[in-house]
Amino acid sequence: MDRKKPENPAKKAFRFGNFEVFPNVYLSPMAGVTDLAFRRLLRSLAGGRVGLMVSEFVSTEAIRNTRTHELKGLRFDADERPFCVQLFGGDPARFAEAVRIVSDLGIDAVEINAGCPAPKMVRKGGGSQLLKDLPRLARLVAEARRACPLPLSLKVRTGWDESRPTLDECVRIACGEGLDLLVVHGRTRAQGYAGAADWGAIARAKRLATELRPEMPVVGNGDVRTVEEAVMRLETSGVDGVSSGRGAIHNPWLLAQIADAWEGGAPRVPSPEEQRALFADYERFLEEDGFTPSGRLGRLKLVAARLMKAVPGGASARADLLHAADPEAFRALLDDFFGKLAEKGTAGFEPGGLDDLNG
Ligand SMILES: Cc1cc2nc3c(=O)[nH]c(=O)nc-3n(C[C@H](O)[C@H](O)[C@H](O)COP(=O)(O)O)c2cc1C
Repeated sequence: MDRKKPENPAKKAFRFGNFEVFPNVYLSPMAGVTDLAFRRLLRSLAGGRVGLMVSEFVSTEAIRNTRTHELKGLRFDADERPFCVQLFGGDPARFAEAVRIVSDLGIDAVEINAGCPAPKMVRKGGGSQLLKDLPRLARLVAEARRACPLPLSLKVRTGWDESRPTLDECVRIACGEGLDLLVVHGRTRAQGYAGAADWGAIARAKRLATELRPEMPVVGNGDVRTVEEAVMRLETSGVDGVSSGRGAIHNPWLLAQIADAWEGGAPRVPSPEEQRALFADYERFLEEDGFTPSGRLGRLKLVAARLMKAVPGGASARADLLHAADPEAFRALLDDFFGKLAEKGTAGFEPGGLDDLNG
């Protein structure tokens, strides 16, 4: 009798309008992180098997006031597909105008940001401020839908704060206006990025969406750092896909590991040499993208601050790296630390052991 375990049904593709997203775990957009250089890094680690790539949010005001080719946030590689541009704004008519403009840039999809919690941005009426004014969110979604010839998604949080859950209403808006995807970050605006994401709320949103429109895909987001966590969330919440933000900085191999696992292989554990090489690749991509030495150092530190927490014994090297004065000093510290690790034959990378994704 064949006792082979059936292939896990969570490891699949989901349909986003006219294309499929496979693997169904992808990088969540992060302003100041997931720019062209970081996305190139993750795509190169995963051999291009990254599901879906989403831009950092781009404000509709910037699109109104600047020529699109001058906007860094709108740049993408020709082979970076499917590629989705995420837009931030609070005015329905201006949002629709921005949707029309970006839809002409050769991209594959557009996403409406109704989750950004930053006070400076919220004051402009977009992001999670839209969760405080659901009639305006509904108008904005309807106008964006009319303006958008491409697959269109809505990304929301579970509500403004605990006393004002808005997720059911957002599901109704997304299903009623014929959107192609709903992405739910399982925190309220008041939570920011603290505390655990509420996957129970995400699961309920998926169930409601299925009742209202059975074919509506829902992506869940919050606290996913490893292949095991992604599989567990897919299995227990019933969502069609998962996106990972901070977890993919702690573990930039996440998308590669997911792709390995989804194709039936064993997810790779990066060796010390591969961990060292990641920083060299990232620095090269940053340089290609026009980053100055100090700009490069800032981004390298941002990744080191998170990644080194997952490297066993990396705590003191992490502290030294964060104090490096320039890219040369940073490189020397990396060579020293990972050289010794390789000599000792110490392998290992443990992003699942982290209890706090903040920093
Ligand atoms: C530094 C930073 C920048 C972010 N920028 C965006 C953004 O531009 N658009 C967006 O939809 N979400 C943004 N997010 C939210 C993430 O996409 C994600 O929803 C959130 O971090 C929860 O997922 P995680 O627990 O996997 O990090 C940002 C998060 C961080 C930490």
